[in-house]
Amino acid sequence: MKVLVIGKGGREHALVWKLAQDERIETVYAAPGNAGMTQATCVPIAEDAIDELVTFAQDEQIDWTIVGPEGPLVLGVVNAFQAAGLQIFGPTREAAAIEGSKQFAKELMERAGIPTAAHAVFTSAADAEAYVRKAGAPIVIKADGLAAGKGVTVAETVDQALAAIHDTFAGEYGQQSSVVIEECLVGEECSLMAFVHEETVIPMVLSQDHKRAFDGDLGPNTGGMGAYSPLPQWDEAALTTEAVDRIIQPLVDQMASEGIPFTGFLYAGLMLTKQGPFVIEFNARFGDPETEVILPRLETPLLDVIMPLIDGQIPEVVWTDQAAVGVVVAAEGYPEAPKTGQAIPLDQIGDGLLVFHAGTAERDDQLVSAGGRVLVCVSRAETIEQAVEQVYANLPDVTDQPFFYRTDIAQKAFRASHES
Ligand code: AMP
Ligand code: GLY
Repeated sequence: MKVLVIGKGGREHALVWKLAQDERIETVYAAPGNAGMTQATCVPIAEDAIDELVTFAQDEQIDWTIVGPEGPLVLGVVNAFQAAGLQIFGPTREAAAIEGSKQFAKELMERAGIPTAAHAVFTSAADAEAYVRKAGAPIVIKADGLAAGKGVTVAETVDQALAAIHDTFAGEYGQQSSVVIEECLVGEECSLMAFVHEETVIPMVLSQDHKRAFDGDLGPNTGGMGAYSPLPQWDEAALTTEAVDRIIQPLVDQMASEGIPFTGFLYAGLMLTKQGPFVIEFNARFGDPETEVILPRLETPLLDVIMPLIDGQIPEVVWTDQAAVGVVVAAEGYPEAPKTGQAIPLDQIGDGLLVFHAGTAERDDQLVSAGGRVLVCVSRAETIEQAVEQVYANLPDVTDQPFFYRTDIAQKAFRASHES
């Protein structure tokens, strides 16, 4: 079989790594891929060049295509592949709006009775400002539309909220015609992803991302600075059942009943509040960097999940009990202005890690940084404690290099378990 992975980040490298272990797959292609994907044949087609991707898949007779990022999904890559009679696993353009439009997502959640923060939408800065002055802080300001996780401000003060409204309408997060203002939820965050085909939901194991750039959850929001799985501080089985029953299943049922069934990897970003899990956001894809710690725990070949699911069967999905901890090595200046083109100290990384490339490129036979998140380094061990120790023992000291990483990934696992 031939499989195509669309995308070029750490998540897609993890997908390539997982698929390459499947003996039935003769070639894994990645479009456009990145310099670290030695197990794939990289083809220079941009991830949002839908027509070119369709032509490539037809010419190469690709059996299955798996989509990493949200961009092509929102542009309708699944619609285009299906119209051409090609097999692809992902949501249609219409269903991907669960991620592409926060307003669409909020209204759908409301109709399905899914717990989420109260919200209001404004198309004028003046109205938004008046609302914030009245509601007070803390309060959350979100650009409506895709902003790669960066169009969100958790404002501690009214002034911060007013500044975020100004920035949103000034085009700081891309062209925005409206702003979503949300009640601030309090709790620990976690990510629950699921394999979904219409009304069938197969939850994956839980993971936790680290959104802020610096240790102690300080600094700006990023695409994610590290992740780990499982979450020993929570009763995973109980939490997963509750989140599927109250959140994921009602969502997919609602989407199916409205004629926009969801197929693909569904991601729920949850806030574990005192009243139970609340939805922060849905994504129409695998999370990044969550995928890099989830796929190493998945024992079942990906195609043995996807193929039966599409055929209306319930696949058996097996996970290891092993823990996985992933640390993102980012370029200095990320997320605002990452310094790229810098030699990556790959030879200083110990052998014990899985190294997934994100923003890397080859220049004059040397690997250099080509994006904000450069590598995701993952360790696997019996416990989270051991995995944390292993990942940091194998990462080089980069204090004097144009890179940085958080040194506190997975600390919440210990704090909470030690407290309880
Ligand atoms: P999002 O892009 O919607 O996932 O938001 C990015 C981050 O902002 C989340 O991971 C949370 O840390 C934070 N956030 C978003 N919405 C809320 C909310 N309603 N209450 C508290 N924190 C939030
Ligand atoms: N790690 C969060 C996301 O993929 O959106």
